[in-house]
Amino acid sequence: MIQKSFILTLAIFTCVISFAQNPVKIIVNTDIEKEKINKHIYGHFAEHLGRCVYDGIYVGENNTKIKHENGVRTDIIQALKDLKVPNLRWPGGCFADAYQWKNGIGPKAERPKMVNLWWGRNVEDNSFGTHEFLDLCEKIGTQPYLAANVGSGSVQDLMDWVDYVNSTKPSEMVLLRQKYGRKEPWNVKLWGVGNEAWGCGGNMTADYYSNVYRQYATFMTDWSNGSGLYRIASGATDGEYAWTESLMKNIPHNMVSGLALHHYSVLSWSEKGPSVGFTEAQYFKTMHEAFKIDEFIKGHSTIMDKYDPQNKVALIVDEWGGWYETDAGGSALYQQNTMRDAMIAGLTLNIFHNNARRVKGANLAQVVNVLQSVILTKEEKMILTPTYHVMRMYNVHQDANLLDVNVSKATNYELNGQKIPNISVSASKDSTGIVTISVVNLHYTKSEKIDIDLRGQIFTSCTGELLTSAKVDDHNSFENANKITPKPIKNISITNNLLNVELPPFSVAVYRLK
Ligand code: AHR
Repeated sequence: MIQKSFILTLAIFTCVISFAQNPVKIIVNTDIEKEKINKHIYGHFAEHLGRCVYDGIYVGENNTKIKHENGVRTDIIQALKDLKVPNLRWPGGCFADAYQWKNGIGPKAERPKMVNLWWGRNVEDNSFGTHEFLDLCEKIGTQPYLAANVGSGSVQDLMDWVDYVNSTKPSEMVLLRQKYGRKEPWNVKLWGVGNEAWGCGGNMTADYYSNVYRQYATFMTDWSNGSGLYRIASGATDGEYAWTESLMKNIPHNMVSGLALHHYSVLSWSEKGPSVGFTEAQYFKTMHEAFKIDEFIKGHSTIMDKYDPQNKVALIVDEWGGWYETDAGGSALYQQNTMRDAMIAGLTLNIFHNNARRVKGANLAQVVNVLQSVILTKEEKMILTPTYHVMRMYNVHQDANLLDVNVSKATNYELNGQKIPNISVSASKDSTGIVTISVVNLHYTKSEKIDIDLRGQIFTSCTGELLTSAKVDDHNSFENANKITPKPIKNISITNNLLNVELPPFSVAVYRLK
């Protein structure tokens, strides 16, 4: 009897072991190209919040300690250039619906001061305004995405802003722009018509906002360049599908290019947990929340498909990322960025790629010193976070064609009776024929062997980069800025078009094949 149960236990154990050792199987059909992965999925977001703009991006024109161009840190300009940022959203967030843009132009000494209503009620001197932001975008080589004030601004204000930045005709606004030093228009194409209109943007109902949107959008024209504006309506948060239903039903589709969607990977709004020193349960929950973006995108897309089967209106996830408790002693919403954030970034971008048909833009919240930042600063020091590195490793997917991918043998990460997939993957082919495969192993402890079966084309060479670290809450710091950086993967073998790889726990890998 004892012997039998021993043998049975041994058999079960052997079976578990051999199951655990079975590699995950991913089939990449390199000849099945789907829609383009719009580069605008890689957008960023800069709000007047904490130290994102003031004492972050912008350190002032008279700063003698930090290298800057017209007050904007040169190290940040360079880092964002290297990242290939396609668009930058500004000035909010909630701040946008309280922002009076006319107070942020003209001689700086004459600009009125303002109280930042939403974020700490601190006094801002309006020294970073429209010119400063749009000039910054030119320096980085990114498209500006202006979030317009609908909650407390007038239709006239918005009409004037569009005129001011885009027109060539000698209107009052254009003459003012020219007086303040800018002859040519900036031709801003991307416009958000309000932000979170269901909340900080005015606490409106969906039907009411739909009408307000129609009114504001009517008076936004491209003025002169003929290319048309890309108008984005304030969208739902998470799974608030009724909001999307109302907007898709009530707003004529020739008046709207995209609907926004916001989703934060937060444990709970009352207890967000620490940015560093979190438990495995907290890590798991964050991953679980990050995965939900897939469900939300699919849910909103189903409604959009009903009203817009031809897929003309895009879904723009213009706020996403991890949200934890603000670090002790940190400015508003300042949080450290660890390998957990790298996991959120890698799997969220894979989800955006795999939903490229409807998702045509997104903005990580936020670019510097706020929430899931790609850059953190402290006086003259600046560091690039693990999230920065993932976004840099992945940016080769920008504007490439999504490839058909099949995970035929998946494994799960299970904790306390809940499970999520272990592995997240997406693949694309760029205009030169290079295939990129990005893979995330988000398991807390387990490394994962993966067989990638490449079909449709013969590949002879592969390079790769890996981002990982010894501990999941490892991070870069002002004392050790390069603790976590991507490393080249050596000796990648392709045999019979089969790529055999092994990913350590909490790691992100990008493979490039020719
Ligand atoms: O990104 C921080 C805030 O989160 C934004 O201001 C708001 O739009 C959202 O609720």
